[in-house]
Amino acid sequence: MHEVGEARYDEHCNSCHGGNVGRVSNIFPDLRYAAALSVPELFKAIVIDGALQADGMVSFKKVLTMEDAEAIRSYVVTLANQAKNAPPAPALHQWTAPLADLVLRAGLEVGRVMTLMQLP
Ligand code: HEC
Repeated sequence: MHEVGEARYDEHCNSCHGGNVGRVSNIFPDLRYAAALSVPELFKAIVIDGALQADGMVSFKKVLTMEDAEAIRSYVVTLANQAKNAPPAPALHQWTAPLADLVLRAGLEVGRVMTLMQLP
């Protein structure tokens, strides 16, 4: 799974979001700290459905499958866990302001995401 995720990431995401040894640019979000990382459904809404297209994050529907997107997400989660010198990423199953913002911009239903994240 991680080999697939890493290969797809290097091929399609690296140019904007940077390599696994550090950022290549600070214009685009470092995915290790992306609010969408903890919500598979939101990650796919962005990467496959192009939920943030208007903000410069294109849809990869033509080149990636749902499985590819999940493999990439899983790979980036591993990178996030390895980022030792970095401040801790927001915990899973936690409702944060950047996450709320993304969910709204992606047009997902808040109640549904809360159910998926098993929030009270
Ligand atoms: C052409 C440049 C470009 C490429 C290539 C690209 N992205 Fe993005 N991505 C962006 C930009 C710009 C944003 C910020 C959009 C915004 O302002 O909300 C973004 C945002 C995101 C976010 C939301 C970050 C957050 O704050 O939670 C995710 C997730 C994401 N990208 C995943 C990917 C993945 C996975 C790939 C590879 C399949 C990829 N991107 C390839 C430009 C790119």
